This record gives sequence, C-alpha cells and structure tokens, in this order.
Amino acid sequence: MCGIVGYIGNHDSKEILLKGLEKLEYRGYDSAGIAVRNEKGVHVFKEKGRIADLRNIVDDHLTGKTGIGHTRWATHGIPSKVNSHPHQSASGRFTLVHNGVIENYELLQKEYLADVSFTSETDTEVIVQLIEKFVLEGLEVLEAFRKTLTLLHGSYALAFLDAAGSDTIYVAKNKSPLLVGLGKDFNVVASDAMAMLQVTDQFVELMDKEIVLVTQNGVTIQHLSGQTMERKPFKAELDASDIEKGTYPFYMLKEIDEQPLVIRKIIQTYQNEQGQLSIDPEIIETVNQADRIYIIAAGTSYNAGLVGKQLIETLAKIPVEVHIASEFSYNMPLLSAKPLFIFISQSGETADSRAVLVHVKELGYPTLTVTNVPGSTLSREADYTLLLHAGPEIAVASTKAYTAQIAVLAILSEVAAKYKGLETGFELTQELGLVANAMETLCDSKEIIEIISKEFLSVTHNCFFIGRGIDYYVCLEGSLKLKEISYIQAEGFAGGELKHGTIALIEEGTPIVALATQASVNLSIRGNVKEVVARGANPCIISMNGLNMDEDSFVIPEVHELLTPLVSVVPLQLLAYYAAIQRGCDVDKPRNLAKSVTVE
Ligand code: F6R
Repeated sequence: MCGIVGYIGNHDSKEILLKGLEKLEYRGYDSAGIAVRNEKGVHVFKEKGRIADLRNIVDDHLTGKTGIGHTRWATHGIPSKVNSHPHQSASGRFTLVHNGVIENYELLQKEYLADVSFTSETDTEVIVQLIEKFVLEGLEVLEAFRKTLTLLHGSYALAFLDAAGSDTIYVAKNKSPLLVGLGKDFNVVASDAMAMLQVTDQFVELMDKEIVLVTQNGVTIQHLSGQTMERKPFKAELDASDIEKGTYPFYMLKEIDEQPLVIRKIIQTYQNEQGQLSIDPEIIETVNQADRIYIIAAGTSYNAGLVGKQLIETLAKIPVEVHIASEFSYNMPLLSAKPLFIFISQSGETADSRAVLVHVKELGYPTLTVTNVPGSTLSREADYTLLLHAGPEIAVASTKAYTAQIAVLAILSEVAAKYKGLETGFELTQELGLVANAMETLCDSKEIIEIISKEFLSVTHNCFFIGRGIDYYVCLEGSLKLKEISYIQAEGFAGGELKHGTIALIEEGTPIVALATQASVNLSIRGNVKEVVARGANPCIISMNGLNMDEDSFVIPEVHELLTPLVSVVPLQLLAYYAAIQRGCDVDKPRNLAKSVTVE
C-alpha cells in the first residue's frame, strides 16, 4: 500500500527513483509519480496504472540529482493522474508525497485553506498547501513543516521538496513506515529497505513524530518538539537476489516452491546447540503465565492464527481466542485476568493490528509479535518478537509466510508445553522435517494440480471449500487465495455448516474443494461431500495418504495430524495460482490489493 522513495546525491535521481518504485510494486498500487529537482525547478511526472506507464511519460532528457517518488493505493479520491502523488502547493514551490490517511483534512481545509483552490480529491494535498500557507505567513520552511505536522491527525510517512529553498528532502512519519538510507555522497528515503537495496544496505529507522532533513551529505533527525535525536544505522539483512524472480514467471510460484526451504530454515534457526527446539525463556515464561492468549491478525495471518489456536491449545493447553484486528479495537471481548496478546503479521506493518497493539499496551498487557520483517513497526513496538525467517515475500498473495507462521507457532506451542513438563507425544523437529519433505513432493507435482485447475475451475464464477476442524481453517485460506488472485468468488465453510443456508447456491457443476486430512472427521466430511454432489456439485477431494479413497482427486503425503495445514495448503495455493494463470490475471499484483496495508 502506497510506497515512498527519495534520492539526493551525485547521480541523476530519475532512474534510481523509478527502480525504487518498481521494488515497491509488490505492496500494491494503482498509480505512481516522481518529482525531480534541478537548477530549473521541480519537475513532476505522474500517471495512473503501472510504473511502466509512468516510465513512458517521464522526460528522458531531464536530469536532476534530487527527487522523490510514490506509488499510490487510492483511499481518498479515485485512482487517476490528478489524484496521484506528488502533489504541489498552489504556487508550485512545494512538492510532496504521502503515505497514510489524514483524518482531519476536511477540517484543516475549512479552517486554514478556505481561499486555496485544490486540484485533487486527496487528503494529502492539504499537507502541502498548509506548508505553503505558513511559509507565506512568514515562517521558515522547517517551522512551517513543524506547525503543519502538529495539526495533522492520522497516519503519515511523507517527503517533500522546496523548489525555492535549499537542496533538502524534508521527511516525517507517524504510524506509517519510513526509513532513511545512507550512502557515500548520497542519501535516500524509502518505505522499506528493498526499494533502495540497489544503492545501499545501511538504513536508519525513523520514529513517530520525528522530522528529518536529508541532504546529500547528512541526515538530521529532530523530535517534533525540536530535540535533536542521534541514531545508529543498521544493516538491512537482505540479499538483493532474495528479491529477484529468477527463472520463475511469477514471485508467487517461487514463494510456493520456497516453502520446504523455509520450514528447514525455521527448524535450524529455532534449534539450540543440543539440537532441541528453543525460544527465549522470557517469552516462554510470558506465554505460560497467561491464562488466555489473544491472537490478533488480518487476512492470511488471521487464518494462520486459527491453526495456531489449535496448536497452542492442544500442545501447551492454554486457551486461545483469535480475533480480526480491524474488529477488535472497537469490539473488544471481556478479557481474562492475565491475557497475552500475540500479533501475527507477515509485514509487521498492518495498521489494524498496530491499532490494537497500541491500545493493549496502554492497558499494560504483555505483547508478542510474530513477523517476517525484523525492525517492522509491530516488532519494534511489542515486548517480544519471533521472526519467521521466510525471506522477503513479494507476491501480494501470501504463501510462504502463512506456512512459516504456522511452523513458528507450532514451535512456540511445543517449547511452552515442554517448559511446563507437558508431554506432546511427538518430536516436532522430526515431524517438521517430514512436513518439509512432503511440501517438496507436492511442489514436484505441480502439473497434476495444473490439470485439476483446468478441468475443475476453468468455467466457473464461484467455488466452495469445505473441511472440518483444522481442515476448515485451511479451507478459509484456500478460498482467500483463490478469490484474491483469480477473482473467482470463493468461500470456505465448516463441512457441517454448508447445509444451513449456503447449500442453496449449489448448482449443477458448482466446484467444491473438500479437505480430508483428519481421521476423526474423515467420514463426516465425505458425508458432506455427498450432500452437495447429490445437488449437482462437482467435487475435488484432497485427502491425506492413509485416509484416501477412490473418489479422491489428489492425495497429500502423510504428516502428523496437527501439522497437516502446512502441507494441505500447498495444493490449494497451486490451485489458486493455476486458476489465475488460466484467467490471464496478474498473479503477483492482483487488482485492488495491497501487500502492506498501512491504513486502518
Ligand atoms: C492475503 C494476504 C493478506 C494479508 C493481510 C495481513 O494473501 O496477504 O490477507 O495476510 O493483509 O497482512 P500482514 O500479515 O502483513 O499483517
């Protein structure tokens, strides 16, 4: 969701900005723009659509060693050239890009800017117009910026240029992520490190309510109150090759294939020198002191949380509730006496989850974030973090992060159980090793899933996924995958629930994917399949070896019952992938979606 880049240095900024924006494409966007400053002023290029469309309109001959760029995911105002960033003040002196939402923009417009004519429908434009207004009233640019920031309510990561003033990128953030990158004779600004890995791996974290002045040779950080802040840079532990597609047609397929490796990496990382699974004892004590765990997450991470509930309750015997982050803030259940909050988030930046984190921290409850991104907002702000070690996930549809989340939650559950002397009855390291092998087998059987998806999903506008128990949770994820990248309407249902209403939608040929990986409900789910087949549905049963029957379309290798989601989700991910390919969809960048949802 919206991305920002900036460059100030020795080289022409244009290509660095455009490449940076391409690296941010994965976050999701609908328009893009750049502004380049040279001795003649600031030159703005913006366009609705892809970065490739923006490239087509950028003047090849223009050069300028300072610039800012933006990918926009529309919130206020339709996706259009006019609403794209950068936005300029009325005189054109100030040029600004912004990520986030200014909640009081209409109020500010009325109170301070009634005589200014606005060119866009965005909340952003109010920021750049306010800066200019305060400068016209006699404030220095920095003071005008500071005054503007004190008036804003909401979230922002922003950067602006002053055509008439010094060669500086003015930067600030509140709630939305933003980093400054350091180089020799240049400095950069980026929503995430990936965008600027092309020029540096040294970054400085920015905190909320800080103002940062970035020049070619220096970075000055001030708190909004005026106090100067010192901060050491960190090295982004990312390999540039991690974020390349290689020979894969889409990142999603690459990331599906990476899952066995990720599981092995997780086993390795969470093992101590004696080869036992191990987690910081302070985290384990905090988990075991809780009388109830509240898992907070969104989308795919929420679906992983549901499987996590099963794992924690079964192994560590602690009751767990799983909540959708965007609902929790204003619809909070009655909490137990000693709750622990676990935030699951691939990006670590999801605004809905962060809102809950801020709230429960104010209430004084312990918090743990499970995330793929070290140094992300949810990681920094929670008491504890467990990392996924899945490597960058670029495709908008989450795949390897989902399985990594489940694997880490399984390890957390087992270590917490063992710590208090509970017997789990199995050796998790070994079982996860078998999971990795099973995933590999599935990744090697792609052609079968491709054929199934062709036969099964080519002429449909809807599809249902059914399962019982833990399979039901995987069905929620399978249906989310299918709908988000292929645009086929898909829903996941508890096997027994379909007949309480939704069965009315079953027609001749309606595709039903059924999961059968749990011995205790194998016959019941097959009974549910019969109910829909009797009404014309076209079934695709995916079962686990040992529970399989003749009618099954696909059989996954046998793994421990509790860990089946790690394996059964793979054919569902592939089914979604091939269905999307068949329909000619842009698999990695599905319409309307953002990878990092940084607004509430
Ligand atoms: C779906 C997907 C989203 C995310 C959700 C939360 O494939 O990726 O549903 O899971 O937006 O994002 P994170 O995990 O970054 O908090």
